[in-house]
Amino acid sequence: MEATIVSDKSKHYPVLLKEIISIISPQYGGTFIDCTFGQGGYTKEILKFSNTKVIAIDRDIESKKIADQIKKNFADRFLFKNMKFSQLTNLKLKNENIKGVFFDLGYSLNQMKDHKKGLSFTSKGQLNMKLGLNDFSAKEVINKLSFNDLQKIFKYFGDEKDSKKIANKIIKERVKYEINTGDLVNIIDSVKKRNNSKIHKSTKVFQAIRIFVNREISELINGLINATKILKKDGVLAVVTFHSLEDKIVKYFFRSLSENKSISRYQPKITQSEPLLYMTERKSIIPSKKELNENVASRSAKLRFVIKKKNFFNFDSDIFEKFKSFIEIENIGNEL
Ligand SMILES: C[S@@+](CC[C@H](N)C(=O)[O-])C[C@H]1O[C@@H](n2cnc3c(N)ncnc32)[C@H](O)[C@@H]1O
Repeated sequence: MEATIVSDKSKHYPVLLKEIISIISPQYGGTFIDCTFGQGGYTKEILKFSNTKVIAIDRDIESKKIADQIKKNFADRFLFKNMKFSQLTNLKLKNENIKGVFFDLGYSLNQMKDHKKGLSFTSKGQLNMKLGLNDFSAKEVINKLSFNDLQKIFKYFGDEKDSKKIANKIIKERVKYEINTGDLVNIIDSVKKRNNSKIHKSTKVFQAIRIFVNREISELINGLINATKILKKDGVLAVVTFHSLEDKIVKYFFRSLSENKSISRYQPKITQSEPLLYMTERKSIIPSKKELNENVASRSAKLRFVIKKKNFFNFDSDIFEKFKSFIEIENIGNEL
């Protein structure tokens, strides 16, 4: 699921870089918001065009180290904020001509390799999975939540078929000891007898916990809404997703605000006669064969984009209603 390509271990390649750059067209100048700065792959490419400015954000404070390096060369054209993209509207953007806002969701290879973060099932030690600016960690989720809550998280955020069996075993084991990353991998392994799939037995549960700990569903929905609000007319909103739930949310949001003829009960409540967004490409863009060959981790990446048609900022969307069941599961975290 990670977006970073490492074919040569010393080099960092961001996923779908050429495609993103061609869509947002930095050669014409303007201000761009990189909502998932990471190691700055997209940002560095944009800053190569002299009439651009980049405002980059990331919830992981580790990203600031890379941002500080970039700042040395681009002090007047680059700004970094350690914040969550759900809070995009808190940025002070008075006279900025926002030409593009983009997201490269998920986590980077660097984050996955950081054992303290515990994103990988090969990590040692305590459960964590916090990307930054979180309210609770995976340790509390696994050691405190009820059977019902755990199985819902595994089922709906991980599409895990054995969610009940795994939750049940966790409840039994955690009275004996505090479950750490290795223990969780062993529990999943002992419950899931066969593995006919190419993916590791723990992949789905780990994805589910990561989505839950980082509230990735509400982050994405609020991020999309706020990105659409801050974009100027003709600005581009582009999103790279890595799993089907993320892609479903992006697809629904883009379609619902680009159509006004829908008779669906999910029709967007925009007080405008014309749609707010324009989709030139209804299908998602996927990595080229060359990129897939260089980096197998890019295989699940999908890029979608829209263009904002008018300077209209106070729109309303029914997307929270549409994905209500997932937000309710995320809200279980309020008990922790
Ligand atoms: C796949 S990496 C981005 C890689 C980046 N495009 C590059 O070229 O280096 C995703 C990044 O988004 C950050 N992130 C994830 N969710 C976030 C959120 N809700 N708000 C801000 N940053 C977030 C992660 O911390 C991570 O650094």
